Amino acid sequence: MDDPEEFWAEAGGDIEWTKPWDKVLDKDARPAARWFTGGELNTCHNALDRHADGGRGEQAALIFDSGVTGTTRTYTYRELRDQVGRFAGVLSRCGVERGDRVIIYMPMIPQAVVAMLACARLGAVHSVVFGGFASRELAVRIDDCTPKVIVSASCGLEVNRVIEYKPLLDAAIEIAAHKPDHCVVFQRDMVSASMQPGRDLDWMDEMATASPHECVPVAATDPLYILYTSGTTGQPKGIIRDNGGHAVALKWTMQNIYDLSPGEVYWAASDVGWVVGHSYIVYAPLLHGCTTVLYEGKPVGTPDAGAFWRVIADHGVASMFTAPTALRAIRQHDPDGLEITKYDLSRFRSLFLAGERCDPDTLGWAERQLRVPVVDHWWQTETGWAIAATCLGIEALPVVPGSQGHPAPGWDLAVIGPDGAELPPNEIGALCARLPMPPSSLPTLWNADERFVETYLSRYPGFYETADAGFIDDAGHVHVMARTDDIINVAGHRLSTGALEEVLMSHPDVAECAVVGVADSLKGQLPVGFLVLKVGADGQNEEIVGDVVAAVRQLIGPVAAFKSAVVIDRLPKTRSGKILRSTMARIAADEPWDVPATVDDPAIFDEITTALATIGYPR
Ligand code: COA
Ligand code: AMP
Repeated sequence: MDDPEEFWAEAGGDIEWTKPWDKVLDKDARPAARWFTGGELNTCHNALDRHADGGRGEQAALIFDSGVTGTTRTYTYRELRDQVGRFAGVLSRCGVERGDRVIIYMPMIPQAVVAMLACARLGAVHSVVFGGFASRELAVRIDDCTPKVIVSASCGLEVNRVIEYKPLLDAAIEIAAHKPDHCVVFQRDMVSASMQPGRDLDWMDEMATASPHECVPVAATDPLYILYTSGTTGQPKGIIRDNGGHAVALKWTMQNIYDLSPGEVYWAASDVGWVVGHSYIVYAPLLHGCTTVLYEGKPVGTPDAGAFWRVIADHGVASMFTAPTALRAIRQHDPDGLEITKYDLSRFRSLFLAGERCDPDTLGWAERQLRVPVVDHWWQTETGWAIAATCLGIEALPVVPGSQGHPAPGWDLAVIGPDGAELPPNEIGALCARLPMPPSSLPTLWNADERFVETYLSRYPGFYETADAGFIDDAGHVHVMARTDDIINVAGHRLSTGALEEVLMSHPDVAECAVVGVADSLKGQLPVGFLVLKVGADGQNEEIVGDVVAAVRQLIGPVAAFKSAVVIDRLPKTRSGKILRSTMARIAADEPWDVPATVDDPAIFDEITTALATIGYPR
């Protein structure tokens, strides 16, 4: 905190640069300060070649473990580097150069990691789109980042069904105004995707004839990737991650936050489509010379609630990262942790949680069952690493249930009240970070500097607004309580209720609507829709509810888990017209609520209670 530049310059020494930086921090850069300006490096070199040629060539870099198919495949650093070099050759032959964008729409298979690192190798910018998003969401991203190439696979595997990716991709390209030059498709054994001659290329055929491509040095401030995340509207925000600051910060976190040494096995049970997957399945463990695990499967059902413990035992995982919802799912199936006793977890040292608020009860259960530190830590797509954490590699502080730990080094946090003044300890307000933010944090949004400033920097001048509310206690522990915007968190997935409402509003019979996040014991929150129908639509309630549920699945994707909606006569509003979403959510969750003083017509809440009962709420 006293001298961030000295601190991060020292951390920068752990990364190999092709050209040293001129300035550790350019405070005058706009719209936000930039780290390591003037420096040049290649992130793929630091993640692979450096280790492959530096004594780790025969060490496992990536272990692919599919709980769905029951198969595993290990890639050494040398093998992974060779695959990535060759795939960079494939992309280069497709015309991809430094700065070009490549969308990766893939399930959890090693080829997804290869494609990401191949982009980094060329200095191209990848944008991974989570497989649970439907064609329209993919199309929005295609139009926003205008990729030259899209990399995909024939299918993904869910617990009880095969998801064909290629028809979803074809439909997205059809909808999008921008058309990629090529799609490179990995054909999995289970499904053979139909290919469009000329445009579509077969992964295996291309790899067989490609020459490996060397690492292309890029500016530290060049984008490594764009990752879209929910905004307040249907238009997602393209979070930009730079090369230099990202490599420095992420490498630093492995030893200092996660207490991992090079050569150890690390596992983030997330998806490469989310930021956790970018940072802790792919980049950080490899930058640090660890072995990373790529797991295709779920915490339960592939095949049972012992799946996580099996993976930890089979691969000697030292530290793991998952979302609380996964633990809740395991606990639901195996409350006494009997599955845990079946496996040798002697090398397992710590469990990290993030993505949503972790209730102290679930945290305590995991601690009792696993007998290792269970560390809740707080971060966002925007930051790429923890804003608050108990840094196991620095000091063995006690983990305080309900808190996400102290601000991580480099984060100068403040809690700000409605009048813009900083609040004293223990008072809830907007959690903000004093500028400049540490390396890896977003420098702006893709093609949207103004939106970046307006969304994050304008409300509290001099601060980055996290859009989370919470407090910092007397001992300096951060407690993240809730979002201050309309983002909800469903099974660790971040969703915009505004985007869901846009889909509901597109139904011809819907006059007005609201979507609220209702507390759920498994997924944290579940979206529930409230519909007010246009005159003349009476009697068709059930059909319209069915339509909007199907529309969300089709337009946003199954990941939204939008399955419940009710029709009501009108929405509860304040006299100034603001919809009282939080009161509706509390009624649906059976949480205590008061009639807000500003409501225009209190009787409306009786109607809401009755309507919710028809769909089984509160549960
Ligand atoms: N491609 C296509 N569909 C997908 C998908 C993908 N990559 N990922 C999920 N889906 C579908 C699922 O099949 C499911 O469809 P359904 O409505 O037909 O059942 C829907 O999207 C919701 O999936 P999910 O959120 O995974 O819920 P689930 O009920 O299948 O499983 C949990 C519940 C708790 C086990 C699961 O949500 C989980 O493991 N969560 C952890 C999340 C996580 O790690 N987040 C990372 C952030 S750190
Ligand atoms: P995402 O960008 O998808 O990673 O989601 C980030 C949001 O998830 C944060 O802004 C928080 O609202 C929430 N979140 C992430 N980690 C935690 C945590 N440990 N505790 C509470 N909320 C969290």
